[in-house]
Amino acid sequence: MNVLLIGSGGREHAIAWKLAQSESLGQLYIAPGNPGTAKCGRNIAISADDTDKLLDFARQNDVGFVIVGPEAPLAAGVVDVFEAAGIKAFGPSADAAQLEADKAFAKQLMRSSAVSTAEGRIFDRFSDAKAYIASRDEAVVVKAAGLAKGKGVFVCDDPADGILAAEKIMCGKIFGSAGNKVIVEDKLLGEEASILAFVDGRNIYVMESSQDHKPIGDGDTGPNTGGMGAYSPAPVVTDDLMNQIVREILVPVVDGMNRNDTPYKGVLYAGVMITGGGPRVLEFNVRFGDPETQPVLMRLKSDLLQVCLAACDGTLDQISLEWDPRPAVCVVMASGGYPGDYEKGRKITGLEEADGMQDVVVFHAGTKGNDRDIVTNGGRVLGVTALGQTIDDAKARAYRAVDKIKFDGAYCRRDIADKAIEKCKT
Ligand code: AMP
Ligand code: GLY
Repeated sequence: MNVLLIGSGGREHAIAWKLAQSESLGQLYIAPGNPGTAKCGRNIAISADDTDKLLDFARQNDVGFVIVGPEAPLAAGVVDVFEAAGIKAFGPSADAAQLEADKAFAKQLMRSSAVSTAEGRIFDRFSDAKAYIASRDEAVVVKAAGLAKGKGVFVCDDPADGILAAEKIMCGKIFGSAGNKVIVEDKLLGEEASILAFVDGRNIYVMESSQDHKPIGDGDTGPNTGGMGAYSPAPVVTDDLMNQIVREILVPVVDGMNRNDTPYKGVLYAGVMITGGGPRVLEFNVRFGDPETQPVLMRLKSDLLQVCLAACDGTLDQISLEWDPRPAVCVVMASGGYPGDYEKGRKITGLEEADGMQDVVVFHAGTKGNDRDIVTNGGRVLGVTALGQTIDDAKARAYRAVDKIKFDGAYCRRDIADKAIEKCKT
């Protein structure tokens, strides 16, 4: 079967790398892809949001299945377009993608499905948001309701900062129309985990747990990014806790989506805070996480293409997934300055040596060029991912690989997986 994968980030390289191992794969096309995906299939120079061209390409190249990586094309309805044309597509419809694309929709769905989340209020006028935040004397979290590339959330320990954040989002329009509405939430305390599951409309097949590292600096300091590293499994998610998350979060949400006439299929990603009072939802994403996908898929032994097809066919209950018990750690190498301004076009060396290490894969994200000459082309440049016998071993191996790779201004956090290592000691 010929497959078209849409997207160009580290997540898409990980998906392409895993799909390329499938026996039922014919040709793999990636639109637009990156130099890493070019090693797994054929990159096609069509942008991820050019639905008309993607559909023409799929028709002309006998594509039988489409897998969508990023949220923006999902929210724009790319799955609806392919399905209307009779081509199977993995991911939610535009209506169901509101679970990520409209945090107000997600909040209301959680309320009506009795899913535990932070107390929050939705505002479409700055003056109302301001009055509400000013009336509180504790920390608040202010979120743009729409898509903001993972940067639309401000955790403010002081209400005055919360008002500033709401002003930037609603009046300064720093995220454009994604900031027409804001959510003001209570700040939750605890440790975060990412729970990704395959969903076929009815059945839920949860993947191994993982944990992202959102802030730019060591010790979770500085502004939030798209994610600076991840590991899997997350020891904070015990078996009992995972069962609770499935029972109290994933099942009610999938049921709620059916009741709402927005049935859900694809990957459902719950970002949860493990609080003293149990797991509570921070956000839903309607796709694989980036960078969580890199360590999670490195641990998946089963055929990814088969499970994605089963999610589309409503047959997830007939699938069983096998996982490598070894932990995996992904360290993101970023361009200096990210998540603010950064330069592009810096030559990258040492990729082959790092990629040649056993049980290490260097997933490309913001890179450009060909095999011999690869340059930086984005904020998050590479996701250097390693399996190890223990989490300490996986971390050490990932950083050994990182240290072989050089480019001007290269930056990475040095503490990826430390929380897990600490937990494994106790
Ligand atoms: P989101 O995009 O909604 O996941 O938010 C990005 C990050 O902001 C999360 O990964 C958390 O670190 C933080 N965050 C979001 N909502 C809350 C909350 N209610 N309490 C504390 N931290 C939060
Ligand atoms: N790692 C966070 C996300 O994919 O949104």
